[in-house]
Amino acid sequence: MSKKIPEPTTKKRERAFLVGVSVAGNKNILSLEDSLLELSLLSETAGLSVVGQLTQHLAHPNPVTFIGSGKVMELKALTEETLAEVIIFDDELSPRHQRELEKSLGKDVRVLDRTALILDIFAQHANTSEGMLQVELAQYEYYLPRLTGAWTHLARQAGGGGGRAGSVGGVGLRGPGETQLEVDRRSIRNKISHLKKELEKVRSHRQRYRSQRKSSRLPIVVLVGYTNSGKSTLLNLLSNSDVYVADQLFATLDPTTRRVELQGGYQALLTDTVGFIQKLPTTLVAAFQATLEEISEADLLLHIIDISHPNTQGHARSVIETLEAIGASGIPIVNVLNKIDKLAEPKIAQEIITSFPQSVAISAKTGDGLPEMLDLIRKVLYENMVPIKVRLPYNQGQLISLFHETGQIDRIENERTNVLIQGRIPGRVLAQFNSWLDSNSATQNEVQNETDETAIK
Ligand code: GTP
Repeated sequence: MSKKIPEPTTKKRERAFLVGVSVAGNKNILSLEDSLLELSLLSETAGLSVVGQLTQHLAHPNPVTFIGSGKVMELKALTEETLAEVIIFDDELSPRHQRELEKSLGKDVRVLDRTALILDIFAQHANTSEGMLQVELAQYEYYLPRLTGAWTHLARQAGGGGGRAGSVGGVGLRGPGETQLEVDRRSIRNKISHLKKELEKVRSHRQRYRSQRKSSRLPIVVLVGYTNSGKSTLLNLLSNSDVYVADQLFATLDPTTRRVELQGGYQALLTDTVGFIQKLPTTLVAAFQATLEEISEADLLLHIIDISHPNTQGHARSVIETLEAIGASGIPIVNVLNKIDKLAEPKIAQEIITSFPQSVAISAKTGDGLPEMLDLIRKVLYENMVPIKVRLPYNQGQLISLFHETGQIDRIENERTNVLIQGRIPGRVLAQFNSWLDSNSATQNEVQNETDETAIK
């Protein structure tokens, strides 16, 4: 099935044609149509103009060209007809797919995939030196196995020792032959090892800063959510800061932290993170160490969900899956259903709210629901006592003291190398005990459910 989209309004934007494939048996979070709509938004965010799209249903991707050979011919004709300069596949292509497709589609067309596009957007939005280094490293690692004549400008940049790895809108050079390619590959490998060393330096600096923040003893609340769900808007509203807000995907890339007042004189540190998106390869998420570390050290995650989006549930599922993939599923979560002002029927919010545990509905734009949200955060962090059973090695003296200072102990047993403690602790310290949960005790999810009942009144 193919669909043409009206002529682009600006002449300067590169013309992009999108290709989506549904493979039988693949469990995708979004439908093919919705996923392509998202790819179209990503393309616009990257500065491209979408001129058309093509879809195919397949039993298996073609090992050579990803789509079937007849579809390649159809794509070639549509590319010529729409004067497309870039073809973007919604799925990750192997280096071979990319090479073969470029060969079949002609020398004036470049073939990219969703990952390359997201990397490009990340490159445009990284602000801190760590963010920029991370993106540059991820770009070089992605492009190294894909290096053909079309990408040799990257190698020249790498050899030149400066600048970002390149952008979707700026890739246009056809390079020299294989021998030159080998030289190019070597200079990219050198660049990668140089970037890794630079990142190490920046990270050890940040680690020191984080230790200071931890020693402030304020609970750390981290905002997570699908891209464009409203995380930065909420952080701005709560802290009167001016974090960059834009109706664009991935406007925020680097973690930003603000101190926030909860009711009753309580405070917390609130951190914004990079937005999640379906089909984001975990390896790419892993490249964003700063975000991962922020999430894994959180005492509470605020999951911001755009309730006005037609794919609310799919987006939320995608975020939960990514949290699981990065090993952060044990941290307590408050679900914040945002953008209620956009709902025609406020009743809908109440219906959706019942499908999310420990949740609250708000509008980060109008401030509606904000007191309730802060109240829920305070309860989860300071009031709700969560049942827990932990086996703490004697060398974890700090944690043993933390249980005594903040919790209520029902049972304590000294074993040969550990102390077994059963009791209740406040939500704000729960995450710190994650690694020591007794295997016979409630799982973190069960603990979460018990908290839910007390938190939602
Ligand atoms: P990423 O940086 O992509 O992760 O996005 P984000 O989650 O930080 O979203 P951001 O705060 O940048 O908001 C995205 C868009 O949604 C902006 O245009 C906001 O103005 C808009 N927005 C955020 N919250 C609300 C809300 O409660 N109601 C309405 N109507 N719009 C909102």
